[in-house]
Amino acid sequence: MDAPTQRHLRLMGGRSNPFQTLIALFVTAVFFMMFQASILKNLQRSQLRLLNSGSEQHNKGKYTKLDMMAMDAPRIAREVNPKFAQKVIKEIGIKVNGTILRGVMKAHRKFYVPSKNGLFTCLNGNQTIPWNAVNNNYCDCADGTDEPGTSACKNGRFYCEPEHQYMPSSRVNDGICDCCDGSDEWKGVTVAPDLKLPVSDEVRRAPCMDVCMDYEHTKMRELNIVKEGAEAKQAYLVDGAQHVGDGNFGPNGEFYRLSLDCYIFKSPGYIYEICPYVNSTQSGKDVWLIGAGGKLEGSLEEGYRLVMPDGRGDHCPQGRKRTTILNFKCGPIDKVKYVSEKEVCVYSAKFDTPAACPDLNTLEAT
Ligand SMILES: *[C@@H]1O[C@H](CO)[C@@H](O)[C@H](O)[C@H]1NC(C)=O
Ligand SMILES: *[C@@H]1O[C@H](CO)[C@@H](O)[C@H](O)[C@H]1NC(C)=O
Ligand SMILES: *[C@@H]1O[C@H](CO)[C@@H](O)[C@H](O)[C@H]1NC(C)=O
Repeated sequence: MDAPTQRHLRLMGGRSNPFQTLIALFVTAVFFMMFQASILKNLQRSQLRLLNSGSEQHNKGKYTKLDMMAMDAPRIAREVNPKFAQKVIKEIGIKVNGTILRGVMKAHRKFYVPSKNGLFTCLNGNQTIPWNAVNNNYCDCADGTDEPGTSACKNGRFYCEPEHQYMPSSRVNDGICDCCDGSDEWKGVTVAPDLKLPVSDEVRRAPCMDVCMDYEHTKMRELNIVKEGAEAKQAYLVDGAQHVGDGNFGPNGEFYRLSLDCYIFKSPGYIYEICPYVNSTQSGKDVWLIGAGGKLEGSLEEGYRLVMPDGRGDHCPQGRKRTTILNFKCGPIDKVKYVSEKEVCVYSAKFDTPAACPDLNTLEAT
């Protein structure tokens, strides 16, 4: 028995005054709490062990622990949405004779079956390898097709099914979620939190959540915007009918209407007033003409822009005149989205307009 406990018992046993009883109670309480804490700690440790074993009975909660198949990486369990877990099992991680077909396009799964002799034929058709060398993190096929789900082949490609696109296999298990369902990060490898990543809030780090719903919504929203814009463009074509063929208002005169109006954009420091084909001003303490005139460049495919070159030239390098460039993007209404001085005396604006939308009939054809 240690010294404080002895003292504590002595206090309890002896004739005590109220003050001594109080101390005794306090000491007892402290011991009791320490005991409780140690029990709790042991309990947590054993629970963690259970969770890391990936046992099925723990898969009932809101989130599911996936036991990662990583052989050469730390076994990091990650939490995934149960819907995604189902997807991994049913679609993405489809298993063929012990090999999980990650990164294989659904339509290509028929090529990923072992032959009678247990061989896999590389997709270039002139090389065969044992089936168990598929997705085993070692590159065998010259065309990289034996490792669609790892980063072993320099020329390998991982197919992201929900986004219908390939990505370089170097992005597999690099800690950054590339496919919207996170299937490229199946090991759950995490990047160091202090690692410098490209500055973008689009970057998602593993463990990945399934954001394919967002992706679908974004796609759909974009499609709707283009459709709305294409409908609104009809009126621009009517207005521009007189200007078909004079070259500077688009092939069908669709940009003519923009030359009739002025558009305002407020940044924290300035107010910009842009009158396409006429002039463009920046108002702060003073008013500066930052562009005038206009020449339309580009095409529907690469995007249209209006270069307005004849602004004021004072204080510009080599006396060059200030230039405003309107970069057009298809949108349902005319709107300046952003203006910034990209280089000294060159002002770049993002400008949404129906004029930059595809024609309604080409849209309906696709
Ligand atoms: C499936 O795998 C087992 C064990 O690796 C192997 O013995 C068998 O031959 C394989 N079957 C085929 C069709 O490749
Ligand atoms: C396999 O075929 C591809 C073209 O299909 C060719 O470029 C490559 O050199 C061939 N490799 C071998 C080892 O024959
Ligand atoms: C720019 O053009 C508009 C429209 O023609 C005109 O009202 C305005 O005064 C012009 N501003 C400057 C600074 O020239």
